[in-house]
Amino acid sequence: MDIQEIRLEQLDPDKFIAEKTEEISSILGDGLAINALSGGVDSSVVTLLGHKALGDRLKTFFIDSGLMRDGEPEHIVALFKDLGVKVELFNAQQTFFGALKGRTDPEEKREAITSSFYREVFGDLVKETGAKYLLQGTNYTDIEETVAGIKRQHNILEQLGIDPEKMYGYKVIEPLIQLRKSSIRLVGKALGLPEEIYNRPPFPGPALAARVIGETTPERVETVRGATKIVEEELSESGAFQYLAILHEDRVVGIREGKRDFGLQIEVRCWESTDAVTGSPTRLPYDVLDRLAERITSEVPGVVSVTYNITKKPPSTIEAV
Ligand code: XMP
Repeated sequence: MDIQEIRLEQLDPDKFIAEKTEEISSILGDGLAINALSGGVDSSVVTLLGHKALGDRLKTFFIDSGLMRDGEPEHIVALFKDLGVKVELFNAQQTFFGALKGRTDPEEKREAITSSFYREVFGDLVKETGAKYLLQGTNYTDIEETVAGIKRQHNILEQLGIDPEKMYGYKVIEPLIQLRKSSIRLVGKALGLPEEIYNRPPFPGPALAARVIGETTPERVETVRGATKIVEEELSESGAFQYLAILHEDRVVGIREGKRDFGLQIEVRCWESTDAVTGSPTRLPYDVLDRLAERITSEVPGVVSVTYNITKKPPSTIEAV
């Protein structure tokens, strides 16, 4: 890999911010750029860096793919409004669910999401706004894992031989490409992001589609969204690196109201990790697991079974897709 990593102990966040804002303004000149904010650490840091460098010449969109968590689009738009950044909510649910329809293979699902983002949604937004550049928060780990062939991260283009200008009609600027997550958090703090954002657990670009095994339909996303809300409420104080719910494809026999119910299975994962490259399951107290099972089976329609993942990464990965 010819990208030079800046390690945590080498990072001076203020100097990094000054250099990157300078670099972004000099690349752009007086041109326009767009970026997509998901509210995750990486895209939030890029949004503030970009606005510092370009002000109103950066148009920021929240792409509502239909795959985000409960209430997330509105919450993030409001939070950035308080930080003085205007974010436009762009409804692209039909595009994403259309591209995901009938797809069950994990890499095909990731490819469908990548092309919905870059070709359909950004292709149109670039034309509409007249922007020449897309600013995005690709980080060092994303590149490393994609190049190693572990999993195609949704935002990797050039390292897979994709020329975004030829393929989609715009260039990409990736100011965070030399940093890993813990360094990006420090830059976010130095930029004045609230702790809720700079310390947020990671969330994948393909969003809840990374947590639905099998076909990603609006109904199946609704199921995993309900379980995710409970897992996040119950585990937010756990101190873990990341915690999530996965909807399985197989059904299992359960009992509901005294009758047989051929129902859905949710798998809970909770990870100890520093950089997402390796991880191990958190040794959660049994009463926490008990409460998770109780709440998910009673509050999420159709779920009759809840399991807890006890596998390390590797051989597991953090997400299921
Ligand atoms: P895996 O599942 O590969 O995940 O062990 C490693 C870390 O990356 C997140 N993740 C993604 N992040 N785009 C992203 O921006 C993606 O396509 C993607 N897939 C996984 C995952 O949540 C974990 O923190």
